[in-house]
Amino acid sequence: MSLSAEHGGLIPAESADNPSFFAKLPPEQKVRAVKLIEERRKRRAQALFHKIYGEQDTVWDGPSIMGGLVEPGQVLHRRELYPKHMEFFKATNWRESCFMAANRVGKTFGGGGFALACFLTGIYPKWWPGHRFRGPISAWAAGDTYETTRDIIQLTLLGEISYNGGRKVMDGRGIIPGSRLGRNTWRSGVQDLVDTIAVKHVSGQWSFLGLKSYDQGRKVFQGTGRHVIWFDEEPPADVYGEALIRTATVGGLVMLTFTPLSGMSDVVLSFMAPEDKPATFD
Ligand SMILES: Nc1ncnc2c1ncn2[C@@H]1O[C@H](COP(=O)(O)OP(=O)(O)OP(=O)(O)O)[C@@H](O)[C@H]1O
Ligand SMILES: [Mg+2]
Repeated sequence: MSLSAEHGGLIPAESADNPSFFAKLPPEQKVRAVKLIEERRKRRAQALFHKIYGEQDTVWDGPSIMGGLVEPGQVLHRRELYPKHMEFFKATNWRESCFMAANRVGKTFGGGGFALACFLTGIYPKWWPGHRFRGPISAWAAGDTYETTRDIIQLTLLGEISYNGGRKVMDGRGIIPGSRLGRNTWRSGVQDLVDTIAVKHVSGQWSFLGLKSYDQGRKVFQGTGRHVIWFDEEPPADVYGEALIRTATVGGLVMLTFTPLSGMSDVVLSFMAPEDKPATFD
């Protein structure tokens, strides 16, 4: 019988999911064993960040997470198959980076979300080709309305709403490893939308993330400097301009991930090479 080191030798590896194994344990060991198993399940459910972009394909062995964005048994393909995503990460070495691409290709969680998780936690995979901040950061992530920010960005980064001893918390099953999430505040006037949340950085200090919406106008993006501002969906030009100012003072960067549904807007055009721009826009 092999004993699982993960469980302090208490639970044989092959019995971890077998109810009859627990029935045989003395009561005091049973409580401990159940706690250990629960902890293992929790860790598995919060491990997406460490599982995507592997050297080899892997299968997601956790539960359905992020409202079904990743399902049990789903193949998480090796990073070799994501050259465009790697190119986007590399582009974060610039002040402005943009992942303008079709729908459902992984712009939100595999693109901007993963990059932001690296910046906030300070955990940069060994293959990471993008920018590296030296310490903890202060960041904003924004969508076009508070509702889409909650239903897409918040879900992708922090997971779903759950309750811990009656307290409303995020379940940590998003792309930011749940074990890194600290205290959050809630935005008043919008149900279940996180306003700010602390994220534990590898240095032991805290990074801060704020969630915003740009239908609230340019003014909500005023304030102190931010190291990273991520727009998931195309922002209006004045909001984008404000983000450039906010990041300039601290040597920060702005990331954009979107499908260009609004056609040749000012922001889309600003990322196009002169030779690719339609003649009428020159
Ligand atoms: N790096 C990845 N590894 C494995 N699966 C991924 C990865 N990125 C995305 N996916 C899968 O692709 C789906 C779409 O991902 P995501 O929502 O990030 O795409 P999107 O381009 O932002 O979509 P939309 O156009 O709806 O905004 C997810 O449900 C997920 O299962
Ligand atoms: Mg998306």
